Amino acid sequence: MDYQVIVIGSGPGGYVAAIRCAQLGFKTAIVEKYSSLGGTCLNVGCIPSKALLDSSEHFHNATHTFKTHGIDISEPKVNFKQMIVRKSDVVSQNTDGIEYLMKKNKIDVFNGLGSFLDPHTIQIEGKETQSITGEKIIIATGSKPASLPFIKVDKKRVITSTEALELKEVPKHLLIIGGGVIGLELGSVYARLGAKVSVVEFLDGIIPNMDKTMSKELQKSLKGLGFDFYLSHKVTGVAVKGKEITVTAENKTSETIRLKGDYCLVSIGRKAYTEGLGLDKIGVALDDRGRVVVDQNLKTNLDHIWAIGDVVKGAMLAHKAEEEGVFVAEQMAGQQPHIHYNLIPGVVYTWPEVASVGATEDELKKEKRPIKIGKFPYKALGRARASMDTEGLVKIIADASTDEILGIHIIGARAADMIAAGVTAMEFRASAEDVARMSHAHPTYMEAVKEACLSATENRPIHM
Ligand code: FAD
Ligand code: NAI
Repeated sequence: MDYQVIVIGSGPGGYVAAIRCAQLGFKTAIVEKYSSLGGTCLNVGCIPSKALLDSSEHFHNATHTFKTHGIDISEPKVNFKQMIVRKSDVVSQNTDGIEYLMKKNKIDVFNGLGSFLDPHTIQIEGKETQSITGEKIIIATGSKPASLPFIKVDKKRVITSTEALELKEVPKHLLIIGGGVIGLELGSVYARLGAKVSVVEFLDGIIPNMDKTMSKELQKSLKGLGFDFYLSHKVTGVAVKGKEITVTAENKTSETIRLKGDYCLVSIGRKAYTEGLGLDKIGVALDDRGRVVVDQNLKTNLDHIWAIGDVVKGAMLAHKAEEEGVFVAEQMAGQQPHIHYNLIPGVVYTWPEVASVGATEDELKKEKRPIKIGKFPYKALGRARASMDTEGLVKIIADASTDEILGIHIIGARAADMIAAGVTAMEFRASAEDVARMSHAHPTYMEAVKEACLSATENRPIHM
């Protein structure tokens, strides 16, 4: 065999798996169909979206808050072309970084579409066609945007997140189908840059996988930014006429709305990507949603093939894919790794940010688990007032009898970074009282977590 391990796909799942395999002493190769490494996350996902979110947030602050801070500038203007150039530079810095890491770890990189010729042989169709053999193989081919059968995504006016990160102009009216993470993050970018943004969502709330309090608070904040929401609306048609898009949707009583805009972002989820891999040839099983079926060890129905990340079940998150990459490599080395799926945090990088770990209130109520809840609003924090970021709250859910923290939900400034402390607390099975009795630096946003824990444990917050 040419390699001990071959990884197909160089996203956060694949490249992390390859690095961990190399660290553990396996002779490793990685196959990537695009010329740039890093997968969805680095090229058309996490990184470029955060670059544009930051740029647009600076513009928003320059127009809305600088004056109050005592900074007088002439009216700021958007140089959108430059914003996209900076975003692309950030992407290159990150993808170049992965190339460096592959070299550093002596991982052979093959550019081209990988497919199984037989259970141990991968054909790579790149500039030339070649084949390599591997004892063990990891499928990390990720996901692609999903659409609806009646929508023709022309990638010009009816677009997915990939095109929304590369537009030539700021839309006048961006119509968004799906009020999930992508719709709200990219909608925020364009709303801050001056677009009118309308979101049509099938369910009765946005970010439906998160705690309802977060969903309601975020909707309020985004309405403040100028978003229009059409909840409980099923999209029935998308028509394109020149530069005009018409989205038709129906509510539960079959009343129809028609929204006209100049761009339509389809963000209704993503689907596992296995096209061209030749899995049928070797008999790797897929489920009814096209995901590679894996057992609790992330092994497919073939003993030497594993699958990780977006192409298998579970949250479609970069850090989930990374954990799975490490998990599989360590298993191959005979170790006994573990992933605590319940404690994989979720973050929405809107402003305010939303971050969660553990169970939601509804999930625990469904389980009939007796719980107690503590909340603390950002507006009662000195730190939040000092930086004029008073929107948001922390919600702690603890077991009613043991006081163990079961869920932490934060909406507000810096929530994305704060949630790591929540993960730590829950990994060590902290009680709300444990956290409430720890010293938290003043003034910080984390004081809201301490106060919410005080509120959950004994209903005695200090500053409220
Ligand atoms: P991918 O990153 O999709 O990588 C798969 C790779 O496999 C791709 O490079 C693909 O070209 C390659 N490939 C596929 N088939 C073959 C083949 N046959 N041969 C060779 N190569 C192949 N997640 C977060 O955690 N945080 C975020 O902030 C975040 N933001 C996002 C923003 C957007 C706009 C999008 C679209 C996604 C975002 N995500 C975010 C989700 C995140 O990008 C994915 O969960 C993550 O990239 C999954 O990693 P992966 O390694 O499983 O797959
Ligand atoms: P999503 O699953 O987050 O949201 C899709 C939304 O579309 C849901 O609210 C759903 O109810 C709605 N929807 C589905 N069908 C619809 C229809 N016919 N009409 C109207 N609404 C409909 O998916 P999204 O936003 O496309 O993101 C895909 C994946 O990418 C997510 O799983 C997410 O985990 C990942 N991602 C993560 C980010 C982060 O971690 N910050 C950022 C962006 C994406």
